[in-house]
Parts: sequence; C-alpha cells; structure tokens
Amino acid sequence: MTCVLRPPTVEELPTLSALCLRSKAVWGYGNDFMEACRSELTIEACELQSSSIAVAEENGKIVGVAQVRVTGSWADLLKLFVEPTMLRGGLGMKLFHWAASEATAMGAHRMAIEADPDAAPFYRRMGAKDSGFAPSGSIPGRMLPKLIKELGSM
Ligand SMILES: CC(C)(COP(=O)(O)OP(=O)(O)OC[C@H]1O[C@@H](n2cnc3c(N)ncnc32)[C@H](O)[C@@H]1OP(=O)(O)O)[C@@H](O)C(=O)NCCC(=O)NCCS
Repeated sequence: MTCVLRPPTVEELPTLSALCLRSKAVWGYGNDFMEACRSELTIEACELQSSSIAVAEENGKIVGVAQVRVTGSWADLLKLFVEPTMLRGGLGMKLFHWAASEATAMGAHRMAIEADPDAAPFYRRMGAKDSGFAPSGSIPGRMLPKLIKELGSM
C-alpha cells in the first residue's frame, strides 16, 4: 500500500466529513439514520486543536481518516473511516495503529472505542477487548459496543 498518513488542512474538513458519511453508509443504513449521524460525523475546525487527526492519502486522494483525543491516561478513538472502495486492504489497520501510537506518545495507557456494531469485529482483531455498551451520540436509545485497547500491546 502506498498510502501516506498526514494531518489534514482546515480546507479539507468538508471532504473528510463526506468521507465519514460515505464510509458509515457501507453497513446499509437508511437515509434517515444517515441524516441523524451527519452532525456527529462532521469534523469542525476547532477539532484540529482539541484532537489529533490523520488522513490517508493515495495518489493525491484522501481515502481514510482517523481521529483520537487524549485526556490524561485515556484516549478516545473518535473516528476511523476508510473509503468504501478501499475496504479490507489494510488501511483500517494502518490508521488504527497510527491512532494507538499517537495516543501512546501523548501519554495514554488505554484507548476507548464506541464502535459501530459491524466494525466491532475489526477492533477485536486489533486487540481491543469488549467493555460493555455506550449510548450512541446520534440515535437516542441506540447502544453501541464499547471496547478498550490496552496501549503498548500492539
Ligand atoms: C472498520 C474499518 C475501518 C476497517 O477497515 P479496513 O481497511 O477494511 O480493515 P483492514 O483491511 O485494515 O483489516 C484489518 C483486519 O481486520 C479484519 N477486518 C476488517 N474489517 C472487519 C470486519 N468488519 N469484520 C471482521 N474482521 C474485519 C480484516 O480481515 C483484517 O484481518 P487480517 O489481518 O486477519 O486479514 C472499515 O470497515 C470501515 O471504514 N468501515 C465503515 C466505517 C466504520 O464503521 N468505521 C468504524 C466506526 S466505529
């Protein structure tokens, strides 16, 4: 894979938010559900300061994004989205490893993930362990699998 990871520019944020929506839709959600997710999947300019973001670029095109926020010894994986045409090619793992390394470098010992149910097996493959459920930030009443990745155990 020839993807390079780099920070995004502020001008690229609308492109990233569109990628997040396109990627989330691979699980077959309907229009109403996707519309309810739009706000949570939109990356605001202030998040460039409050979190770390990496985009994956291949041949000049952004094909993936990861976002992690560290608070003390805890990290939250806020986003991990791969372009639908690039699934199962190793890019999710590359972005996950970036997020874990970034969080570790910032002093975190554990990374929490509130996963889409269809993405949870991927996180388990990445070594994360199930840790109950968390309420969806987009859909009232919907519970999402919560997983914890112990950092330093890649
Ligand atoms: C989850 C996601 C990021 C995984 O990215 P990906 O590039 O397809 O994953 P990779 O190719 O790096 O896969 C790494 C490993 O996980 C496995 N894997 C990937 N997706 C999987 C899934 N949905 N279920 C089970 N295993 C999965 C792969 O088979 C591979 O295993 P291997 O090393 O034994 O071959 C991607 O499916 C995605 O963007 N989905 C839509 C958006 C989404 O739901 N994001 C997560 C929000 S919480």
